[in-house]
Amino acid sequence: MLAAMTDEHRSWWRDAVVYQLYIRSFADGDGDGIGDIAGIRSRLPYLRDLGVDAVWINPWFPSPMADGGYDVADYRDIDPLFGTLADADALIAEAHELGIRVLLDIVPNHTSDRHAWFGAAVAAGPGSHERLRYLFRDGRGPGGSEPPTDWESVFGGPAWTRVMEPDGRPGQWYLHLFAPEQPDLDWSHPEVRAEFDSILRFWYERGADGFRIDVAHGLVKDPAFPDLGPRLRAPRAGDPRPHPYWDQDGVHDIYRGWRAIADAHGDRPFVAEVFVSHPERLARFVRPDELHTAFDFRFLQAGWEAKRLRTAIDEGLRVLAPVGAPATWVLSNHDQTRHVTRYGRASATAPEPVAPVGAAGAALAVADPTDLALGRRRARAAVLLMLALPGCAYLYQGEELGLEEVEDLPDELLQDPAWLRSGHAIRGRDGCRVPLPWSDGASPFGFGPAGSEPWLPQPAGWGSLSVTAQTGDPDSMLELYRSALRLRREHPGFGADALTWLDAPDGVLRFGRAESLEVVANLTADDVPLALDGRRVLLASAPLAGHRLPGDAAAWLG
Ligand code: NOJ
Repeated sequence: MLAAMTDEHRSWWRDAVVYQLYIRSFADGDGDGIGDIAGIRSRLPYLRDLGVDAVWINPWFPSPMADGGYDVADYRDIDPLFGTLADADALIAEAHELGIRVLLDIVPNHTSDRHAWFGAAVAAGPGSHERLRYLFRDGRGPGGSEPPTDWESVFGGPAWTRVMEPDGRPGQWYLHLFAPEQPDLDWSHPEVRAEFDSILRFWYERGADGFRIDVAHGLVKDPAFPDLGPRLRAPRAGDPRPHPYWDQDGVHDIYRGWRAIADAHGDRPFVAEVFVSHPERLARFVRPDELHTAFDFRFLQAGWEAKRLRTAIDEGLRVLAPVGAPATWVLSNHDQTRHVTRYGRASATAPEPVAPVGAAGAALAVADPTDLALGRRRARAAVLLMLALPGCAYLYQGEELGLEEVEDLPDELLQDPAWLRSGHAIRGRDGCRVPLPWSDGASPFGFGPAGSEPWLPQPAGWGSLSVTAQTGDPDSMLELYRSALRLRREHPGFGADALTWLDAPDGVLRFGRAESLEVVANLTADDVPLALDGRRVLLASAPLAGHRLPGDAAAWLG
């Protein structure tokens, strides 16, 4: 059962480990090849035994699925692919029984073009009340035939699409920072605000323990709609100029309102997806009367490079300290190339990260040669590093199995809108969304009933990475995760708020958490001496060579 929702001294979410469920690829209960709520329910004991505090479920609302469910047609129901509202209620109740909290994914920047509001806006014509909930504008140039601004969609191409007016003539343009099937809402409209307040309450009342906020930095646009000019569409690190649609100051007022609603329902955290130009800007989202937490993606972007990682950790903690918010670390998610693959590339140790993470977090990295064995070795060390940091950690389903990015999916199966919108220049994010292998043998590897065909093909070799293949093997990735999560829960050293850096050779990160815990991560290729000083090794990502920590390995000492 869940512990008390509010602890006077420490809220559960301040150091939670949250497991991200990409529902369509987690477990398929009904055999249609697509993961669903029934599948999640059948695997809840797995999540309890793994030792996570909560799950975050990617959007499960009715959707035409133009962007994996981030195009929501109805925020108060469940897509029939995934189940029913009754199934959702049952899942939330069963998760709570097992002590697992449930975070949902709210998508406030845009709806689906099949949302009733958008259909009404197109039908009602220019100047109508219905159009004011979205961002319709007249075009420029002769007959308004050019987009109102030069803004670009994160998925490629212009961020504006022209509609046919009710009289059959080409008319106004609407803004979509993502796909054309994802029209942006106008958050200056009181009905938009009221609607989302009501959606939050709807799910709180059904038992949701919190929300991940999609594109939390994008809701408010500069009302002057200035051109971007030569400026890149993604916020650039350190660029002090305000951007016309990312990280506008007006978003904070929205989140202060949301915080009040959350507080009225107990201790139910938000975690914001935020991309900002400077770490200090991140802290603004988690001021005491705003959101509880926000992902700090710089840790993920730092590659396997000690100085960059240390900077990301230090700055992340430094900017959050004054506002009292915990850091939120993550190595992978449904928008990023899986980190086993990223860490196996030469680019992992390059002086500058070569894979910029866009405002959507889209995986833009080119597929350069990858050493998966090296990537897995580093991934084992990386998770010990991440789980030893103060704050929250998010795990993306399948990383506990050491799954790699699937880079050879057939072109005709790719579904990411980025693939289409980029004119097939960007393969997109399907490679990190391949259905999980639960048992060895052959596909579907227990993802669905025998004979069912997963929506994306699983690599033939994934049986050896399956849950059954790894369970009980002390050297497996899965058992490393299980041991790490158990220790993190049980060892008092992990409760400390701060970390203290300790002397270490170049390329080695070494820090203490309270007196009783020391963490050493060796990001070089060579082994280094490990001074135990009376401590013992609690957990290591690779076998030690006597009193030496091998290259690309990490250890917890206590
Ligand atoms: C971020 C989500 O994580 C991503 O999957 C989605 O495509 C965009 N936001 C647009 O909603």
